[in-house]
Amino acid sequence: MRTSRREALVSTLGLAAAGLAGPRRSPEPEGPPTSAPSGPLPPPVSLGDFESLAQGRISHLAFEYVAGGAGDEITLRENRAAFDRIRLRPRVLVDVSRLDTRVSLLGLELPFPILLAPTAYHRLVHEEGELATVRGASAAGAALVVSSFATTSVEEMSAVATCPLWFQLYVQPDRGFTRELVHRAEQAGCRALCVTVDSPVLGARNREQRLRFALPPGMERVNLRGLGKAAGATERPSEQKIYSAVLDPSLTWREIEWLQSLARVPLLLKGILNPDDARRAVEAGVAGVIVSNHGGRVLDTVPATVDALPLVADQAAGRIPVLVDGGIRRGTDVLKALALGARAVLIGRPYLYGLGALGAEGVTRVVNVLKSEFEMAMALSGRPTLPSIDRSVLWPS
Ligand SMILES: Cc1cc2nc3c(=O)[nH]c(=O)nc-3n(C[C@H](O)[C@H](O)[C@H](O)COP(=O)(O)O)c2cc1C
Repeated sequence: MRTSRREALVSTLGLAAAGLAGPRRSPEPEGPPTSAPSGPLPPPVSLGDFESLAQGRISHLAFEYVAGGAGDEITLRENRAAFDRIRLRPRVLVDVSRLDTRVSLLGLELPFPILLAPTAYHRLVHEEGELATVRGASAAGAALVVSSFATTSVEEMSAVATCPLWFQLYVQPDRGFTRELVHRAEQAGCRALCVTVDSPVLGARNREQRLRFALPPGMERVNLRGLGKAAGATERPSEQKIYSAVLDPSLTWREIEWLQSLARVPLLLKGILNPDDARRAVEAGVAGVIVSNHGGRVLDTVPATVDALPLVADQAAGRIPVLVDGGIRRGTDVLKALALGARAVLIGRPYLYGLGALGAEGVTRVVNVLKSEFEMAMALSGRPTLPSIDRSVLWPS
């Protein structure tokens, strides 16, 4: 019998028997012969496996929303391709019998340098939405950044969290509401504020436009309740529209200063690519920056984040932590990002695929797979601690 990769995976995981496999959506190329092993369920072996599983489990609309990028998706692909181009330069005969992956970050002691990036609308991919995500992150011990556009309130998420939470802020044109939102997030126990600065307007998200993407009835951006009708449910994307009622196109460094004056927790800027902006961020006294192109979802044809990272890290020069997200799918990607100056990394789509495939447990497993791959990469490259990971672990290009 010949089976496709997804069928093999579904059968290996026993998902079909558990009624979890979901419909197959498109014909797939034939793969090599496989036979389904019996016995206890082995875990999925890679983050890519979770994507395949999720594609069969979640609606086409949800999958396209998560997977898609802006424009021709050149940046989306480049985020991955740039990691793939980097080669490693291992050292042998190093004692790697003990690995230390702990990292301190803005007052937190994290067991490993992998966080979950803020992503919107988790109820689109799983009925338990962000509550399942928090449970999954908590079980894995990973810090989670709550999105302003969550479909569960930050208070409800914090009530079930045993992992550290940060809050991602889309500054709202209504500044009074923005101030309240920051205070609500702090009161709920969020330990840092990530202000997203790469999205003054919408990106050209053609996949969503073609599907006339909108949140299904009953789902809303609950953290923005009180902002009027526009904040509740998404407006359908159209070809002409660039402004959004829930993004502030007038945001400047002045508002960053204002936010610093009112926030009681450290403030990071999310969406820095240009080293000049990184220098300005350090001068502005922010607590950290996240090198991000929003997973290729806003301005297409900007470079891969891993290519921008060393330039930003050089500007920060160790004065503030630099984090990075975009295209991180392997433990070797985490190693490469740290070598290029990141204190920690964030993942977006992979944990949403985990959530869509297996709920809270899927989120936990995605983190665990990436964490063990990172540990393997550390050991196999002869870098047993985070400080021992520097640019010398990269093969000169
Ligand atoms: C479905 C989806 C929703 C997202 N929602 C938000 C959001 O609400 N706020 C935000 O700052 N970034 C958002 N992002 C961007 C992520 O925080 C992160 O930058 C990106 O996903 C990292 O790339 P990766 O998906 O390749 O790991 C979203 C990304 C995805 C895929």
